[in-house]
Amino acid sequence: MKILIVGTGYVGLVTGACFAEMGHSVLCLDIDAEKIALLEKGQVPIYEPGLEEMVKRNIRERRLFFTTSYDKAVSFSDICFIAVPTPSKADGSCDTSYVETAARQIASRMTRYKILVNKSTVPVGTAYAVRSILQQELASKNIPFDVVSNPEFLKEGAAVQDCLKPDRIIVGSDSARATEAMREIYSPFMLSHDKILFMDILSAEMTKYAANAMLATRISFMNEIASICKQVGANVNEVRKGIGSDIRIGYHFLYPGIGYGGSCFPKDVKALISKARDVGCEPLLLEAVEAVNQKQKKLLSKTVQKYFAKRGGLRGKTIAIWGLSFKPDTDDMREAPSLNFIEEMLSEGVHLRLYDPIAIPNARKILGHHPHIHWAEDESDATQDVDAIALLTEWKQFRLVDFTPLLSRMKGKAFFDGRNQYKPIDMKNKGFDYIGIGVPDQLST
Ligand SMILES: NC(=O)c1ccc[n+]([C@@H]2O[C@H](COP(=O)([O-])OP(=O)(O)OC[C@H]3O[C@@H](n4cnc5c(N)ncnc54)[C@H](O)[C@@H]3O)[C@@H](O)[C@H]2O)c1
Repeated sequence: MKILIVGTGYVGLVTGACFAEMGHSVLCLDIDAEKIALLEKGQVPIYEPGLEEMVKRNIRERRLFFTTSYDKAVSFSDICFIAVPTPSKADGSCDTSYVETAARQIASRMTRYKILVNKSTVPVGTAYAVRSILQQELASKNIPFDVVSNPEFLKEGAAVQDCLKPDRIIVGSDSARATEAMREIYSPFMLSHDKILFMDILSAEMTKYAANAMLATRISFMNEIASICKQVGANVNEVRKGIGSDIRIGYHFLYPGIGYGGSCFPKDVKALISKARDVGCEPLLLEAVEAVNQKQKKLLSKTVQKYFAKRGGLRGKTIAIWGLSFKPDTDDMREAPSLNFIEEMLSEGVHLRLYDPIAIPNARKILGHHPHIHWAEDESDATQDVDAIALLTEWKQFRLVDFTPLLSRMKGKAFFDGRNQYKPIDMKNKGFDYIGIGVPDQLST
């Protein structure tokens, strides 16, 4: 079966490369000509561990191709996966126009049966809207088609592994023909055991939102628990282990921090809230999840302000920032909480020395030139003459740092740990004033 992937971003490119790796013939289409030109040369425009080698290998072995031409793409394919953006509109609802445009582009060129598979995260009922688009476009042609929902669950930073070894594959289909085709396409991913869960289309679309909303809820829950811990003198690191040991709770996704970000959780929680309101439900819990996250994104700058209020004020201070991407192992800066912190600090007249192992090019595109921003070479360079370090993204390379020479390069000694990566007492013993999330402060004065 010949597979078309429409949209060659984090989801589309990884999915296309993994399908090709499993032996399928895959054509990836994007409207971004620059991106396609790079990909045709085997250059991957995003950072995702293991992806570039896989893309190069499958281009070489002639299973993976790229194009900007819908004409070529539609005539090539039997099945079309749509993996285009579904951003938030100003009111928080999901903008499905990219999906609709892609569907229209495909339908207007169809001359034979095709299956349209929606991989983008879309509000419940979007597959039916896509089906209406195809019905309108194909009204006079009498060409059969099916629309399937196949939401994606990969995690940026581990996307290739997630795609090759998914926990589950959700397929919403109401056509036996399309169901069989989906089983065939995914059969190489299920050699050890069956991982496909077939269900109705609406439930498949809802499953994706429910999964992301659940994960976001755990984060906001832990952030709220962390705030209470801080006020009562408890240590959220201990509490996390204490509750995670209950198998009904488990250890995953129980880390407090500086708020969830990225291209999915913020927009998907908002879209689910919007959908719930549309259908007359009161999404009280989801609204609280979102509100806690908004509050959490401001927490670190408030903490920094409070610390420096007793030490001559924040204006004119210099802070090193370690980590800019919304999480480790990705260059994705979409909705990164670091951006909120940076904006707050710049507005307070703070000078910043920014470092991230991978995301600096993307961060530069967003932040542009600013006289108070210095782009550092590495984590050590970032600390030159600074009053404080703020750890915002827990890249592994920040775990085992030799702090003694760093501290001697610094002007001040504050360490704001936005990801609770270090033991508070160890940091105090090294000479820092250590302030983490939901743990008692360790100040020397
Ligand atoms: N990024 C993730 O971790 C992740 C995980 C699961 C699901 N999703 C969902 O997958 C979808 C895609 O997300 P992404 O992060 O890959 O987006 P992305 O922005 O990285 O990539 C989308 C690509 O689609 C292209 N595009 C836009 N309109 C097009 C059109 N009409 N025809 C062809 N190409 C077009 C863009 O140029 C871009 O390259 C979204 O709905 C997202 O919510 C994302």
